[in-house]
Amino acid sequence: MGTEVARQFRAAGLEVIGTARTADPAAGVLALDITAPQQVHTLLRETRPDVVIHCAALTNVDACEQQPELAYRVNAFGTELIAAQCQQRGVVCVYISTDYVFDGAKGAPYHEYDAPNPISVYGRSKWAGEQAVQALCPRHYIVRVAWLYGAHRPTFPHTVLAQARAGKSPVAIVDQIGSPTYVVDIAERLLPLLQTECYGIYHLTNTEPVSRYEFAQAILQAAGYSIEPTPLTMADWRVPAPRPAYSALISWRLAWAGVPPMPSWRDALQRFLAEHRQV
Ligand SMILES: NC(=O)c1ccc[n+]([C@@H]2O[C@H](COP(=O)([O-])OP(=O)(O)OC[C@H]3O[C@@H](n4cnc5c(N)ncnc54)[C@H](OP(=O)(O)O)[C@@H]3O)[C@@H](O)[C@H]2O)c1
Repeated sequence: MGTEVARQFRAAGLEVIGTARTADPAAGVLALDITAPQQVHTLLRETRPDVVIHCAALTNVDACEQQPELAYRVNAFGTELIAAQCQQRGVVCVYISTDYVFDGAKGAPYHEYDAPNPISVYGRSKWAGEQAVQALCPRHYIVRVAWLYGAHRPTFPHTVLAQARAGKSPVAIVDQIGSPTYVVDIAERLLPLLQTECYGIYHLTNTEPVSRYEFAQAILQAAGYSIEPTPLTMADWRVPAPRPAYSALISWRLAWAGVPPMPSWRDALQRFLAEHRQV
């Protein structure tokens, strides 16, 4: 997601300083380990940004469950360092968070005023990050996204289509419902959102809840395959970390703040497949 945000903000004429764990001078990317206090301090002191868009995280949900200390170090402590430096230097802090802060028990789309109750280490560590941003930096946006896909690294549609190309039926969960979201649509709304100065929590996902199974089915159909996915239930899915069964999001605050609405997941998927025919 960070790559897409940097691409779109540069295209809009803004100066963007990208960071990653390893520097990439050719791409203008500086090295930053968000868990190293001195590195965070130095970067913000030397680059003096107006806004930090904090997309870094340990995003592998199962790895977080197996390495809780690392998960909290990156997702909570790293975020605390960034939020505190933003506050100290008058920088707006945008923290990208997740649908996994919810437990899934509501059974209907979560809005921004629903209470988080994460059920995994990943979810709890990201929620700790949210709480740090709220406590430390008043000029913040917490942007909850979900089930991301895009062209910058392999994501769910890539896996589904790779299986189909190999003549296999991709396995997909029938009873996990969420909001698949194209990173291009998120990045497009971040700039108008930043201009509102209406701080706080936002849900930024493509609209209309869908199961992993139906999403996989739609990917296959749109790409012209006649293969059906192989259904699997969450009860039979043997993975280390629990996932919320229902984590679809809706946004109330986006419209209130005057930001253009997010398109549906079907619309987003069509555009993604049309724009990236090699997927
Ligand atoms: N992917 C999803 O479906 C999803 C769903 C909900 C929310 N989100 C949230 O959306 C945001 C972006 O997700 P994404 O899928 O774009 O993530 P991603 O592709 O996994 O990228 C996360 C980046 O964070 C970097 N990182 C990890 N530890 C770091 C550290 N200590 N210092 C500096 N950088 C570090 C990673 O570097 P390495 O590659 O070197 O490890 C990676 O480049 C995250 O906050 C995530 O929690 C994602």
